[in-house]
Amino acid sequence: MSVAPVAKHPVPQGYDKAHVTPESYHALYQESLSDPEGFWDREGRRLDWIKPYTRVKNTDFMMGQVSIKWFEDGILNVCVNCVDRHLPKRANQTAIIWEPDDPATPTRHITYAELSEKVNRMANVLLSQGVMRGDRVVIYLPMIPEAAYAMLACARIGAIHSIVFAGFSPDALANRINDCGAKLVITSDTAPRGGRKTALKSNTDAALLHCSDKVRCLVVKHTGDQTTWVQGRDVDVLALMEHASPDCPPRPMGAEDPLFILYTSGSTGKPKGVVHSSGGYLVYASLTHQNTFDYQEGDVFWCTADVGWVTGHSYIVYGPLSNGATTIMFEGVPTFPDPGRFWEVCDKHKVTQFYTAPTAIRSLISQGTEWVEKHDLSSLRVLGTVGEPINPEAWNWYDKHIGKGKCPIVDTFWQTENGGHMITSLPYAIETKPGSATLPCFGVRPEVLDPTSGAVIEGNGVEGVLCFADSWPGQMRTLWGDHQRFEEAYFQQYPGYYFTGDGCRRDEDGYYWITGRVDDVINVSGHRMGTAEVESALVAHPKVAEAAVVGYPHDLKGQGIYAYVTLMNGIAPSDELRKELESWVRTEIGPIARPDLIQWAPGMPKTRSGKIMRRILRKIAENDYGSLGDISTLADPGVVDELIENRMNRG
Ligand code: WT7
Repeated sequence: MSVAPVAKHPVPQGYDKAHVTPESYHALYQESLSDPEGFWDREGRRLDWIKPYTRVKNTDFMMGQVSIKWFEDGILNVCVNCVDRHLPKRANQTAIIWEPDDPATPTRHITYAELSEKVNRMANVLLSQGVMRGDRVVIYLPMIPEAAYAMLACARIGAIHSIVFAGFSPDALANRINDCGAKLVITSDTAPRGGRKTALKSNTDAALLHCSDKVRCLVVKHTGDQTTWVQGRDVDVLALMEHASPDCPPRPMGAEDPLFILYTSGSTGKPKGVVHSSGGYLVYASLTHQNTFDYQEGDVFWCTADVGWVTGHSYIVYGPLSNGATTIMFEGVPTFPDPGRFWEVCDKHKVTQFYTAPTAIRSLISQGTEWVEKHDLSSLRVLGTVGEPINPEAWNWYDKHIGKGKCPIVDTFWQTENGGHMITSLPYAIETKPGSATLPCFGVRPEVLDPTSGAVIEGNGVEGVLCFADSWPGQMRTLWGDHQRFEEAYFQQYPGYYFTGDGCRRDEDGYYWITGRVDDVINVSGHRMGTAEVESALVAHPKVAEAAVVGYPHDLKGQGIYAYVTLMNGIAPSDELRKELESWVRTEIGPIARPDLIQWAPGMPKTRSGKIMRRILRKIAENDYGSLGDISTLADPGVVDELIENRMNRG
């Protein structure tokens, strides 16, 4: 395949304080591969250890014995590393700037001293509710400081948190509470977002109907909206914090003790509970936050993600706070009250690093540059993107209108499973090309494999599937309660390698270009979704006999959700039914899973053994039905013409 060359953007000049330089990048990267023990022994010391580790790396990618351990005999507390150790120097420095949904609500500046007090109080409240080391706590909160307090309070007492994104439905919440066996869920009354409110407490009430009656519910009274109250189960957490002691001794934890579980979509079955460690995860989040964004003393760092996703874990809370940074937590959305909100906030807080998703950039491009020009963006130094490939048009707009041609752009490729950045450019160290994540981070060994034979493809100008040949400290350790599924999902297909599920190209310069998922995972506005999850929600509807879901290219969202639906015998298709199914999926999973297009499919293209040929459905959804390939193995090739005839995407 021949690809037109893309101009390289030179490393910006005039910045000599950068953590990594063009020369040091290559030297350090080589060292991290040739002497991982030495490299990570040194990097591990960026944290404070109660008992220093003597063993750095102990990892095995072989199917049947996959085991990943870093700094395994070290003892530390993650909360101490993010809070207590900064107090001597930074008690009065702002740790978190909270920017509310409504700009008329006052901003809050939370110092490290205040953060410490709140986290200690919340930790004592958790203890008083019977939460013990190793217990699971589900957090279902809006983007408010209490979400960070709750995460750090769990870390302080050795409880394992599992955040459920506030956009998820009661069913999704219940499934996660049950899967991890949570003792407690922390929620708020309601959650304002874009001027509208989500009823988190009543969602939680609905979820808890499907959970053990032992699960308690801590409620943050955030908006003061009226909610129901179950005596003996519901607890006003802010009231308890007022009376709790501001001093809670941190629990010494093993480096390998789990810090959190985060559910993410896989290509099959129910969401997977990705388990991250305490020591290795924090070392990796800290290092990548510092290098990728060239974080410097005094910077104001803003990652616009939600703490419900891994990006928020690593780059709103753990990475920045472990580095003693000032981090912004934004409750709102880019377009409320107007499409200039991001830039207004950058101006107001003099943001130095701004990290967002391509889908947000694309939606703002369509609003015009007048919204940008109203605000002073001269404080910005580094721009970042994450979540999906960024199209060159969006990259160039970001560069020109936001960075004014002066801010390096870091396109960070990584996954929930990775804990931190894997492939990204580094400001002032790696030249960029719009649309390429560029080069691997320290300790990361990307390999391009032939998808069919599994052979490693050497050299440049090649394409295949993306694997990692060795472990890095931020790597997930297992799937909660299912180590076998962990091995099967990531290590079985290409023995000896971690398989990302992504396709990629390595160009003539050795730069990596992620070409998207090669499995049944789709990426909608940077949100990861298993097509199987949407299918099982659809078939749970009484009028649906069968459903097949695929992704298709969508101008704003990157990928849209395209559902083929076969109705039960005797049920007539109608626009009302289409709307009914859309809102059904919304309530089953959440708004992010709502199908963009639903096509009625009287028959599905199946092989004689009854397997749906999704390749064909994908092509039709892409409006690329001229090249369907071999359809002779279909039981009834006639259904294909019918599907093409009634395709929904003609763009
Ligand atoms: C999938 C992981 C952890 C980041 C947030 C998403 C895609 C992520 C990029 C990028 C191209 C990207 C991949 C990956 N992806 N970043 N910079 N360029 N693709 O985490 O929900 O676990 O999704 O997002 O397809 O496998 P996630």
